[in-house]
Amino acid sequence: MNPCTSRFGPKGYIFPRQFEHFGKEIYNMEIRPSDTFVVTFPRSGTTWTQELVWLILNNFDYEKALETPLSLRYPYLETEMFFNHNQNIKETMEKNMPPVQKILNMASPRYIKSHLPLSLLPPKLLDTCKVFYVARDPRDVVVSFYHHSKFMNILLDSVDFKAFWELFINDLLPWAPFFEHVKEAWRMRNHPNMLFLFYEDLSKDLPACVRRIAKFLDKEITEEQIEKLCEHLNIDNFKKNKSVNFDNLNDAGLLNEKESFIRKGKVGGWRDYFDEEMTEQADRWIEENLRDTDLRFPQ
Ligand code: A3P
Repeated sequence: MNPCTSRFGPKGYIFPRQFEHFGKEIYNMEIRPSDTFVVTFPRSGTTWTQELVWLILNNFDYEKALETPLSLRYPYLETEMFFNHNQNIKETMEKNMPPVQKILNMASPRYIKSHLPLSLLPPKLLDTCKVFYVARDPRDVVVSFYHHSKFMNILLDSVDFKAFWELFINDLLPWAPFFEHVKEAWRMRNHPNMLFLFYEDLSKDLPACVRRIAKFLDKEITEEQIEKLCEHLNIDNFKKNKSVNFDNLNDAGLLNEKESFIRKGKVGGWRDYFDEEMTEQADRWIEENLRDTDLRFPQ
């Protein structure tokens, strides 16, 4: 175990140690009925879903969406656990990614992103406000996570993809255990305040997902609005969109310019990364973890 991380909660989720300073504050935060949460295991389609939900709930205000970073419109609840003592980095992070207290004190309606599993979020969350949970095939998650770790410059050069995969399936990477995270939400998928989505469904038929999401949010939406929204969300446009692509963190030289936050956006891209041994390992690992549930990732 990395000395900078600890395990938290009943399933031993791994987070940076700093989480202990505000984990309780988050767990005990007061949820407002007007809050809208997007909750995911990282790299599962969070940003895509946040922008979609925010636009539906804000009358398709594209002007504001393009000029105000998503990280301020739809802040990341526990981002403070990544703040460090380097003043340059701290300032850039705080400017772009508000600390917990600031998020808790935001005016209503609050839009909140979290990568915490449901068991570490307030127990009254689902009974009080609407929650989106997005899940994605773990093989694509791990590829995306690997590139993201390189993007954030937090991976030693010696860790190649195969070594990263070993860490992932042994529940040794931050946010692990992956399956516990997803299954906690899957168990709540029929709660009237929960909309459980799959990245694969967003990718296969985005307009149908937009209709489902609008209905869940009790919003009327026209076909013309759907068309424009899907165009805005198209990955080629998204990549260039400075409000969602985290270019704003580059001031502090935090990022590896060879990588990008919005990447390929492919379903099944893992096939280019897995050798035969890893493919078999993945089959076994997924089967073992899905044995006690009817959760299945759409192919
Ligand atoms: P890849 O790395 O496989 O391309 P998150 O927002 O949870 O961090 O998820 C990031 C993943 O979602 C990345 O996957 C990213 O490219 C993909 N993604 C982001 N915006 C997308 C979009 N508009 N369409 C399709 N995929 C998108």
